[in-house]
Amino acid sequence: MGYKRVVQATPLIRERCRELVLDNDKLRKIMEVFLNNVHRGLRKDTHPTSIVKCFPTYVQDLPNGTETGKFLALDLGGTNFRVLLIELSHEHFEMKSKIFAIPQHIMLGSGEQLFDHIAECLAIFVKEERVADQKLPLGFTFSFPLSQTGLTVGYLERWTKGFNCSNVVGNDVVQMLNEAIDRRGDIQIEICAILNDTTGTLMSCAWKNHNTRIGLIVGTGSNACYVEKQENAETWNDVDMGSGNVLINLEWGAFGDDGALDFVRTEYDEDIDRNSVNPSKQKQEKMISGMYMGEIVRLALERFTKDGLLFGGKGSDMLFERGRFYTKYVSEIESDPPGVFNNLRDICEELGLKHASEQDYINVRYICECVSRRSAHLVSAGLATLLNKMGEKKVTIGIDGSVYRFHPHFHNLMMEKIKELADPSIEFDLMLSEDGSGRGAALVAAVAARLQKEKQAVQT
Ligand code: GLC
Repeated sequence: MGYKRVVQATPLIRERCRELVLDNDKLRKIMEVFLNNVHRGLRKDTHPTSIVKCFPTYVQDLPNGTETGKFLALDLGGTNFRVLLIELSHEHFEMKSKIFAIPQHIMLGSGEQLFDHIAECLAIFVKEERVADQKLPLGFTFSFPLSQTGLTVGYLERWTKGFNCSNVVGNDVVQMLNEAIDRRGDIQIEICAILNDTTGTLMSCAWKNHNTRIGLIVGTGSNACYVEKQENAETWNDVDMGSGNVLINLEWGAFGDDGALDFVRTEYDEDIDRNSVNPSKQKQEKMISGMYMGEIVRLALERFTKDGLLFGGKGSDMLFERGRFYTKYVSEIESDPPGVFNNLRDICEELGLKHASEQDYINVRYICECVSRRSAHLVSAGLATLLNKMGEKKVTIGIDGSVYRFHPHFHNLMMEKIKELADPSIEFDLMLSEDGSGRGAALVAAVAARLQKEKQAVQT
């Protein structure tokens, strides 16, 4: 009497989840290999065969707050496609946007169809916003691996995150968009920059916080970019506009594609990979990001149920259906206070698991926690590696993405783990980006315009 029962997952469940727990020894091993991968990506001789590509972005300068103007932006690469109109004035910005769906048949169709669709959405938007008669500069946030040879030239290296359009890999996507716009003939656009969402996130945080040196996405996919010295980015060969720096898009989702993470991957990770549209690619991303997190949990639940450890051994059609356990469930389940299972009860009902017991709830929550913690810990290991490498004493990390935004403990898990893994003399903070993909695109275009103007002023 008077004692609250200790609520713990059953020993067998805990035992089976052990492989999902990455202790600091494992994380430090991962950091060591990751650092090595980053060096390989940066060096000219090893870049072609490197797994972590470290693509130079041709963005050399961070915003200084003086950028102004009216810009269009496109944002492709998450769950939605958006078109935005952004007006920057000193320390202030206004934004209008419209979301368009990218239907599955377009995600898996031809490149020409994809870019025709994008151009059509853009035309609808500029007409609705009554700016069709102005030739506005446009920043294109295209969140896939691009090998760039300039700020407006980007060759798609591979599709990720469920996209697989034909005849795009190897092509310049800026040119493909321009061609689609020309095919329509009803709008005029000047594409000023193509960028990754991590770059947009870094730029949009740097606009407000001048210590920002890293941009991170933990959303549908996962990736990071950071400020590197031009001399270390050996595959980059443009003129230094003064900062001596260049942003590097790591494309860290691919980490592990050579087997480097096999020592921590589980049967669920292998299952996810086998059944994806890009088998054997983006192995670290598949352990971290929102496109896969719910499915990892579902696969574990399915396995444990079939082994008689959950739901009295009786699952449901929905529990056994691929993709039916959404990543947002993980956030919802962990949002309930410990020992409270309001969201989880609803989710179990939704999945036809009315017969779930209190112990099942405890177990399911525990499994969710193991999967989301592992994701946060992998992200933290990557960030700690960058912090240690950069050697700056005070760094802000700008972050965006649905997992970071909506998971109730992701931020704290990251703070705690980065502190354990990074050099203790480095001060860091994690800053949620306000719409990095949209505002960041405008900022990249604006900074490019500012530098151009400054350069012309010096020459005349
Ligand atoms: C995938 C893409 C990468 C992007 C990330 C986050 O990893 O390859 O370019 O930054 O998803 O959206």
